[in-house]
Parts: sequence; structure tokens; C-alpha cells
Amino acid sequence: MRGEQGLASEGAPGEKYAKIIRENRMENPLKLKRIHHVEFLVGNARQAAFFYRKGFGFSQVAYSGLETGQRKRTSYAMSQGKANFLLTTPLTPDDDAAEHIRKHGDGVKDIALEVADADQAFEEAVKRGALPAQEPHDEKDEHGAIRRAAVHTYGDTIHSLISYKGYKGPFLPGFAAAPIAADDCGILRIDHIVGNVELGKMQFWADYYTRVFGFHRYITFDDKDISTEYSALMSIVMSDDSHSVKFPINEPAAARNKSQIQEYIEAYGGPGAQHLALQCKDVLHTVGKLQRNGIDFLRVPDSYYQALPARVGPVEEPIDDLRALGILVDRDDEGYLLQIFSKPVEDRPTVFFEVIQRKGSRGFGKGNFKALFESIEMEQARRGNL
Ligand code: FE2
Repeated sequence: MRGEQGLASEGAPGEKYAKIIRENRMENPLKLKRIHHVEFLVGNARQAAFFYRKGFGFSQVAYSGLETGQRKRTSYAMSQGKANFLLTTPLTPDDDAAEHIRKHGDGVKDIALEVADADQAFEEAVKRGALPAQEPHDEKDEHGAIRRAAVHTYGDTIHSLISYKGYKGPFLPGFAAAPIAADDCGILRIDHIVGNVELGKMQFWADYYTRVFGFHRYITFDDKDISTEYSALMSIVMSDDSHSVKFPINEPAAARNKSQIQEYIEAYGGPGAQHLALQCKDVLHTVGKLQRNGIDFLRVPDSYYQALPARVGPVEEPIDDLRALGILVDRDDEGYLLQIFSKPVEDRPTVFFEVIQRKGSRGFGKGNFKALFESIEMEQARRGNL
């Protein structure tokens, strides 16, 4: 089944997996270091690069295409803080990327991970049941070499596994430096990347991240936490031991009308990455800039801000400033967080972004779900998808 193609051996989650998970539990079996970059396959990478530079403040750092001897695809490497995006478009209709775009529209193909040793990581991942996407191989140019492999995850999404073998160039072998500085918006790093999977598959993919990557369950939200009159979802947040890589997995929950997750799956043509949360150090500054740049965000009703002081207690940011920008606040026993969600950044209602600032809280904004989902449902209704 397509949604389970990341695992070589399929089957329902349950005691069989629980046993494998117990037996294989290791802190960091793939020696994962960080999210290296996220690759988006897009219809027009030149325009996407302009959008992420002018809209989100990502500087262009490197380029690969016809001028660098790459005949099949053009890619732009963009970065801000420690967040790296790769924007790729096919140059011919028979390239695999063209089929990905036909099926999914613009979307995330690869959540690429840096590991200590790509051969070891690949071998270990496959031993733990991951389906291979690309065998380990060298990639090199005059700046040095990397070792690279890849495994499948949900839908048509993959995880590249990259280790450095002396590479000192601008992005990866095959890329030429092509710097175009952006007006930085204060984004520091990728906080988490959420995957949407089909009804009944959330536990399967949570187990996949435990079994293959050694991740643990960080938080679970069920439909009592996250349901409104119409739109419901369930979510499990999977995290590595250092909590530097977090991959929440959502599935639709039964509700009176269509879940926002189901809307995504239908528009995307299957499971895929739903949103990327970008962490910043001053949410008022970052979101103010993004809005002036023309990025559209979801808005919650004004009543949200009337109820806010009683719900979250004192916060350092002036409520009027939060209200003016539409920033949401949630608090737990460790502190609070400030967050906001963009509208989808392509015409299909699929991938969107979150901007998040953490002030002690390591949560995901559970207290905002109700207000937020009512806002999402208003947008779904405008699209005729509720
Ligand atoms: Fe999020």
C-alpha cells in the first residue's frame, strides 16, 4: 500500500512492532546530527526562490542547473539561520520530479538528514525495516565529497542520509556559489516538520520513526484535544533523543464534516509534509516583517485576545501587538510559546508554514487548536471543501 511504502515489511501496528521497538530501542541508531535541508519539488524553482527570498527572507546561496552541467534539473539552495531549503524543478517532462509535481503540486520531496556516516545509517535503517530509496554513493566536485543514500517515508517523501567526506563548498557537490542576500526575517532554524498520513496510519508511521530512527513519542494529541464541530485530527509528535529533530504525524479523525487533514490528502494526492515550523527569536519582529513582505497568515477572531490574559497569564509581549499581527500564545508548565500559521503557499490547499518562538514551552500550542481550527474551517468553507 502506497502510504506504507517507507517500510519494507508491512502489517498492522501492534504487539509485533512493540516487541521489535523494545528490542531495537537505541538512542540514536542512525547517528543523526540535524536536518540538513528540506527539498521542495516545484513547478518553477526560479520563481519559488524569489518568493522565499522576498517573502520569507531566505538568502540564495548556491545554484545547480544547465550552467553547472546539470541537464535534468535546476535547484536553488536557500538559507536563513540554520534553516536550509532546496528548491528544485525538472527541466524535462520525463524526469521523476515532473511526475511528483503532476501528482502533488509543489511539495516537499526530501527531508534530508545529516548523519555521521551515510553507509552506516543506510545499512542500519534498512536493517530496521526502512525501504531503500537510493543506495549509498559518493557525490563530489572540486570542493570535496559527500556520501549520500536515501530511504522512503510516508507517501512519496524520502529522507536523504548525508555525511561529509571533506566537502567545503557552498551547499553540496554539483552546486556553484550563487549568493543573493535577502532581508533576513530572523528565522533561526526548523523547529518541526509535520506529516499528514491517511486515516488509521498514524500509529504505523509513529512506530516507523521509533523502529528505524530510534525516536520516541514526545506528545500525543487525540481527537478530544483537537476537534471542533467539523474538523478533527489526531497527532503523535515523534522526536529524537536530543529533541532537535521533531516529526509530528497527523491523521484525520472522524468528524461531522471533512477533516483538514483529509482535505490535504485529497489535494496532495496522498500523504506528505503538511507544515514546516520555523523558529525565531522575536516573533513580533519576524511576523511583522513577513506580513509586510506579503505573506498571508490565518487570523483568529478578536475574542481570542480578550480571553488571552485569563488563559495564559502574564506574557512579556504587549497583547495589542500580538492582536495586531494575529500571533497566538499557549502556556504549559515549562513556559509559553508564541505561534502563527500561514495560509497554504501554493494554490492547492497543502503545504503551509508555522512561525514559532519558544519561551520555555516545548509544546505545540494545544491551547490554540480550537481557535485555530475554527479559522482553518472558515478557509476550508471558502474553498468549498468543508
Ligand atoms: Fe506545528
